[in-house]
Order: sequence, then structure tokens, then C-alpha cells
Amino acid sequence: MGSAKRSLSEIEVGEVLARPVRTFDGRILLDKGTPFVPEHKRILKMWGIEEVTVLVSGEKEGEDSIKIDKTDFPGRFILNVPLSSVMEDLYRFSAESYAGGCSIIMPKEMTQVIQNVFEPVELEKVLCSLEALPSLPRLVQELSGALSDPLCSPKRIAAIIEKDPSLTMRILRLVNSAFYNFPSRIDHLERAATILGIRQISVVAQSALLLDTFNSIPQEAIDMDQFIRHSIAVGVTGRTIAGFAKLSNSELIYLAGLLHDIGRLFLFVHFPKQMIWLMNQAFQEKMELFQLEKRMLGLDHGEIGARIIAEWNLPLALEKSASFHHHPEKNEWDPICNVVHAADVLVHVMACGCSGERLVPRLNMPVWDKLRIPEDCLPALMMEARSMCTLFCSIINDGADGNV
Ligand SMILES: [Fe+2]
Ligand SMILES: [Fe+2]
Repeated sequence: MGSAKRSLSEIEVGEVLARPVRTFDGRILLDKGTPFVPEHKRILKMWGIEEVTVLVSGEKEGEDSIKIDKTDFPGRFILNVPLSSVMEDLYRFSAESYAGGCSIIMPKEMTQVIQNVFEPVELEKVLCSLEALPSLPRLVQELSGALSDPLCSPKRIAAIIEKDPSLTMRILRLVNSAFYNFPSRIDHLERAATILGIRQISVVAQSALLLDTFNSIPQEAIDMDQFIRHSIAVGVTGRTIAGFAKLSNSELIYLAGLLHDIGRLFLFVHFPKQMIWLMNQAFQEKMELFQLEKRMLGLDHGEIGARIIAEWNLPLALEKSASFHHHPEKNEWDPICNVVHAADVLVHVMACGCSGERLVPRLNMPVWDKLRIPEDCLPALMMEARSMCTLFCSIINDGADGNV
């Protein structure tokens, strides 16, 4: 993939920015990876910017610098050998990202002494003790309760969220960011709830509260910042995929992505030594970590996550997508689960954050095909997802630097 300059009269809708567009004082107007929309032309004219740099595919320029051997493939993509054409494109994206200075973050076991023996655990016993499960933040419950009332109004939702001033600020920052791209500024939560809809605004608030819960968990086996970044990235990428696949319910998909690995969080908290052993062993055996969890613990993190989500009384779709995100074919091709599965793979390709898995998980091709995303849209999808991840991380996860 290369880049080319375009004047405002030449640029076409859908072309993706290869470099950020900045104002004269250095402020970013449009970030790298943003797909061009007609509104952007007006903004750039206003700032007197006449030229931008966009991505152009290697094929158009007659170059194909990254050669791929489909049969004998080393590295993080080994679980996807032989590579499908979609995975080839993803490999190119990954290779180009690293060439551009992006680095892969590995789980902590790389720096820790690995025990030889796996210490068995009584997983069911720990799961059955209520104190072991993370508790659902009170406002998340209140929002779920309010939404179950058919007469619930934007005013009521705003009143619940406003109980937490820092949450209110974060949500207003988010709805006024390029993530939503509203033409005018939104200053009040009630207005945000009216424009976005009470369900969407509630999901945004619930996800911010759930991330606070993640943050309060001690980190022993995993870098919690990286875990949170992975969770946000799967949510945001799921939302991006939903847009390209023309699926509705994108905010529920975001929440499903955010929570998909919550079972692994439980395992990291209660069985850090065993998880370090499992992460190392999965890499040695070149297998997916969830399969080894199942073999050694009796349950994998998807099943554990589903139990936690059920305990919290959150929607069944979230429980199912956590349970089946590594084998979505077992969930009757449910669109939310399919999107979360694909988003998880794409986020591993982007190496955005880390949830313990060092290899890019196997992409279920029938599931991908069901999403009906044209192959030539994949680079734009990946660029948009990466740029949205950076933006969302910086806004929703207070204190994070926003780098992906
Ligand atoms: Fe997972
Ligand atoms: Fe994941």
C-alpha cells in the first residue's frame, strides 16, 4: 500500500487519509486512517487546506512488495495457514504497520520465569463463590433497569448518568468527537440522549463504567492497560465492521466486543500462575489459548465470561457472544457473535493491546463471508478501525495515552 497526494477537487469520497491533516498550528483536523466524506471538503476549505495525502493500493502502483508463502508460513499468522485471500490482505496490513513503526506487545510470560508443572485448580469451586465474580457497577444496573421500562425518557437516562460527573464529562467529550461526527456541539446529556437515542447513550455510559471495573483489578499476569486496550479495540472494531456490513445494533455490538474476554480477566485475577503457564504452552504448541484453557481447566474463558454476564443480568446476546466468540459457528450464525469473532481476529492483526493470546486467532471464513464485506473495502475498514480505536481509547479510558 502506498500513498499519493490529492487536491480537494481530485479526492473521492471513501478514500482513506494516509497522513493526518493538521491546522497551521499543528492541531489534527482529520486523523490518519479517516475515510473521506463530503463534509471534510468543507472543513478543509475553511482552513485553507488544498491538498491531502491518501492511501493507494500497491496493485494500482504496480508494486507488491510483501511476498507471501501460503503453505509454509511462520510467525503470528500460523493458525491461519494456508492463508485465505482475506488473511493475505490482513498479513500485508500487519507487515506494513510494523514497517511503519508499530510494535507488537507480548503477554507478560515473556519476561517471567515459567514453572515446569501446571498446578491444577478447582475452577468450578471458585466460580461458584459469589465474591470471586466481579461486581456490576451500580449505575450499569440502574441504566439496564431504566431501559427495561418502555416509558423511559432521555431525561431519565441523563439523570442517572449525571450522578457521576466524571462519566458525564467523558460522554460529552465522546459525543462531541469525530467518533460521532455531529455537525454541532452537544452540551447537555439530555440532548445527547435524544440525538443518540437512549439505548446508545446508555451503552456508551455502561462501557465506560465497566472499564473502570477492569481498571480496579490487580495486575499480576497481564498488563491491565493492554487488556483494556484489547477490549476497547474489539468493541470499536466490531462497531466499524457493523458499519461496513450494514448491520444495526452497533452499540450493542460495541458492548459485546468490550466484554468478550471478561472470562479471561477472571482467570488472570484468580489463577495468574496457571495463566502464565497456559499462555506459554499455547505458544509452544502453536494452538489457540482458549483450547488449552478448556483442556487444562475444564472451561474456556468464553464459557466463564458467559457465566459472569448471566450473573449480571445483561442481555443474552452479550452472554452468547462471549461464550462463542472463538467458535461462532456453534451459535447459529448470530450476527453479533460473528462480528465479535471477526473483530477479535482483526484486532490481533493490528496488535492493538493484548489479552494473553500471542498468535492471530483462526478466522472462521464462512463467518467472515456471512458479513458480506467486499474484499476491496478491507484496507479502509482496517484503517478506520485503527483510527477509531486510538480516538476511543483516548476519550473513554481516562488516563490512557490513546496509542494503539
Ligand atoms: Fe477470547
Ligand atoms: Fe479477544
